[in-house]
Amino acid sequence: MTSGVLVAFEGIDASGKSTQARRVAAAHDAVLTFEPGDTPLGAELRRWLLDKSEPMSPSTEALLMLADRAHHVHHLIAPTLASGRSVVTDRYLASTLAYQGYGRGVDLDALHSATALAVGNCRPHLTVLLDVPVDVADARRAPEASDRFESADTGFRERVRDGFLALAASSSDPWVVIDGTAELDVVDAAVDAALASLAWPQ
Ligand code: TYD
Repeated sequence: MTSGVLVAFEGIDASGKSTQARRVAAAHDAVLTFEPGDTPLGAELRRWLLDKSEPMSPSTEALLMLADRAHHVHHLIAPTLASGRSVVTDRYLASTLAYQGYGRGVDLDALHSATALAVGNCRPHLTVLLDVPVDVADARRAPEASDRFESADTGFRERVRDGFLALAASSSDPWVVIDGTAELDVVDAAVDAALASLAWPQ
């Protein structure tokens, strides 16, 4: 049996990645999932990770994100791919490099190694970055939403956005960068064109 395809959507909050992930998963009969939190253990980790009333060091934040990912890969992503079904994930390993590495300043080499440990051979076949400037994303966000990451300052979000772009330019995994400020049908078409070359199971 051929393995499924693993596609990750990445971007800063309100970049439009969740809309695309949903649409693409439905179009390809793929399992739609997300990080952090799409397992029973992960949901607990997500609650602590987003709760800004619980002070957390950057390395604690990174290790909890990676624990969520290791569990997610082992219990959901790897078995689904092995069964021949594809997986579309709303955030994956690049989010930890961008948010905890570029955003919070956790050592990037250490994060690359720890990320490799968490995902094993479940590297994404394609990472799709929906790129939007921080001011555009801020204008789209609900004003009352403020978890640990949404309440971080603009400088943090700028570093995360720049981090995603740096990763896209330097990664040995395949990436595509799509302008998330374009009209929705233009974004849809750009995403579909990028995904057309993947070996989706029939
Ligand atoms: P998410 O549910 O994608 O939030 P949103 O839908 O608002 O984009 O992710 C929650 C937050 O977790 C988001 O602000 C990004 C952050 N995050 C990290 O900091 N590191 C990670 O490795 C992951 C997966 C998410």
